[in-house]
Order: sequence, then structure tokens, then C-alpha cells
Amino acid sequence: MRDLITWRKAEHVPTLNPHEVHVWRASLEPDAQTLVRHRQLLTAEEQARAERFLFIRDRHHFITARALLRTLLGSYLQQDPRNVLLTYGTRGKPALAVQRPDAPLEFNLSHSAGMALYAFTLHAQTGVDIEFHRDIQDLRQLAATVFSASEQAALDALPATLRREGFYAAWTRKEAFIKAIGEGVAFPLDRFDVSLTPGEPARLLRIHGDPIAAQRWQMVAFTPAEQFSGALAVENPLARVSFWEL
Ligand SMILES: CC(C)(COP(=O)(O)OP(=O)(O)OC[C@H]1O[C@@H](n2cnc3c(N)ncnc32)[C@H](O)[C@@H]1OP(=O)(O)O)[C@@H](O)C(=O)NCCC(=O)NCCS
Repeated sequence: MRDLITWRKAEHVPTLNPHEVHVWRASLEPDAQTLVRHRQLLTAEEQARAERFLFIRDRHHFITARALLRTLLGSYLQQDPRNVLLTYGTRGKPALAVQRPDAPLEFNLSHSAGMALYAFTLHAQTGVDIEFHRDIQDLRQLAATVFSASEQAALDALPATLRREGFYAAWTRKEAFIKAIGEGVAFPLDRFDVSLTPGEPARLLRIHGDPIAAQRWQMVAFTPAEQFSGALAVENPLARVSFWEL
């Protein structure tokens, strides 16, 4: 089922207020000239990281994704994108090295098959994930390695025609959550449950061993483009989410 999200085109980055999340989508396949401009926005360290990608396509995706991140951060912070200082959490989550104490800007990004998503909010941890729907031979087998027991049961209960959609719903929601907390796959994937049934609201259902923790999180699922799933996790209090196009 396709959701009815309007991706608004913005001439300027809109003002981000407390309790709001801006989700941006972008293509990571610019023309050669734009790519040159993008590369110039990266730090020497980021350019060196770009050079380490084996495949040119991955390198170009990284350069563009990082340049667009810097561009958006620069706009929100009213700074030159090249001067935005980034730091990394213990599991690699990028964050601003210098925060405005009255309005700390949190963000996250994700890319898949040439598309990127970015999420920005104030005061609250956030994580975002996008996945292209690849053909997976054995969804159940993969689900057994990354989903909790109840998620596997929910997936099994779906008619075969909805199983791939359910699989990607769970995958992106789980990723969005583990990215929001900054742990990535270091957080045990079988220790929390997300909803996955198409047509039901996106939710972090429970975190095993902590009955109230799940209530601290809001989850939003959406379709970034045909054949893609997307999900956002953000700490409560409830946030108003808007969708923007770069
Ligand atoms: C690294 C990880 C955080 C995301 O990996 P991913 O899904 O391959 O990649 P995404 O495109 O969604 O996200 C990558 C971006 O997240 C950010 N990121 C990196 N580490 C992060 C962390 N610990 N927490 C949050 N964000 C992180 C970075 O900005 C990175 O982009 P960059 O490398 O261009 O700077 C981690 O969750 C992972 O290794 N996942 C592997 C996939 C998997 O098995 N998922 C199970 C799903 S049920």
C-alpha cells in the first residue's frame, strides 16, 4: 500500500521548530559538474574516505550524500557547509561537534541504491533508514538472523504477496531505531519488536526487559520512492514530521 506523502520542494531550508522533524530526500546521482562542486564541500578527511571506496559509484554516492548533508546542516546553522564540524559516537553515528545549547540540532542520514534520506530535529535523538527492495531469495531465512521471534511470527502470518513489504517495513523501522540510539547493529536486533503488518501504524512495540522504554519513541514509515521503504524513529514528545525534496 502506498502512503500519501507530499514531498515539498523548498527554495530555502525551512525554519525547524521544537517538536518538528524535517525529512529530506535526494537523489545521489548528480551530473559531473555538480559532483566536482560536491567534492569541494568535503573536508580533507572526507575526501580521503571517498577515495577508499572500491567502486566509483559508491564513491560518488558517498561524496554526494556527505555534500548534501553539509549543505543542509550549513543552512540550518547558517554556516558555510565546509566549516560544519562533525564528530562521531562510539559506534560511528555522526553528530555536530559544537551544539547551540538552547537548540541542539540532531540529525541522521541513510542511503540506498542512489537515494538518500536525511532527518533533522531539535533536542531529540533521531534515526532514519531507506532501503531499496532487492530481490531476496529467502526472506524467512534472513528474517531469522535479524528479526525478533514475534517479528518473524508476524512476517509468517502475512500472505505471500505482502511478505516483502512487511520485511522491508520491519527492516527499516529496526534500522531507524538502532541508528537513533547510535548503537547500530551493536544493539541486539532480537531484543526489540517493531510493527510490520502493511496497513498498521509504524510502532516500536517493545524493548525486551524495559517495559516502558518503547513509549519514549515515535516511529513513522513512508515510501520515499517506488520500490523503496523508509522509516524514521524520533524520541518523544510527539513530533510533527514534514517531508522535503532537495
Ligand atoms: C552502520 C549502520 C548504522 C547503518 O548501516 P546501513 O543500513 O548499511 O547504512 P545507512 O545508509 O542506513 O546509514 C549509513 C549512515 O548512517 C550514519 N551512521 C553510521 N554509524 C551510525 C550509527 N552507529 N548510528 C547512527 N547512524 C550511523 C552515517 O551517516 C552513515 O552514512 P555515511 O557512511 O555516508 O556517513 C548499521 O546499522 C549497520 O551496520 N547496519 C547493517 C545492516 C543490518 O544488518 N541491518 C539489520 C536490520 S534489521
